[in-house]
Amino acid sequence: MPKVVFLDQGVRGELPEGTTVLEAARHLGARLSSICGGAGTCSTCRVECVVNPQNLSPVEPLEDAYDMGSGVRLGCQARILGDVGLRTVRIPKAVLD
Ligand code: FES
Repeated sequence: MPKVVFLDQGVRGELPEGTTVLEAARHLGARLSSICGGAGTCSTCRVECVVNPQNLSPVEPLEDAYDMGSGVRLGCQARILGDVGLRTVRIPKAVLD
């Protein structure tokens, strides 16, 4: 099973391949916002994969709809395919206003 580390929170564990990053956060107790509950409509579940980004599933068209910056993914859409190191990404307040 892939090893998953939330580097900014000191949380780690092993989860089945295909688990979404949001599911991993919930299972491991990492803090990751999910206002829409994983429907892909809020973009509050942003993460940056800083170790082995190639071990996340390809970017979904839904993710391209948001201007999140290079390497930033939606945790509810990105699936874990191998060992990864992640950081949660805070949305600038101006985006939420
Ligand atoms: S939880 Fe809302 S877009 Fe991911």
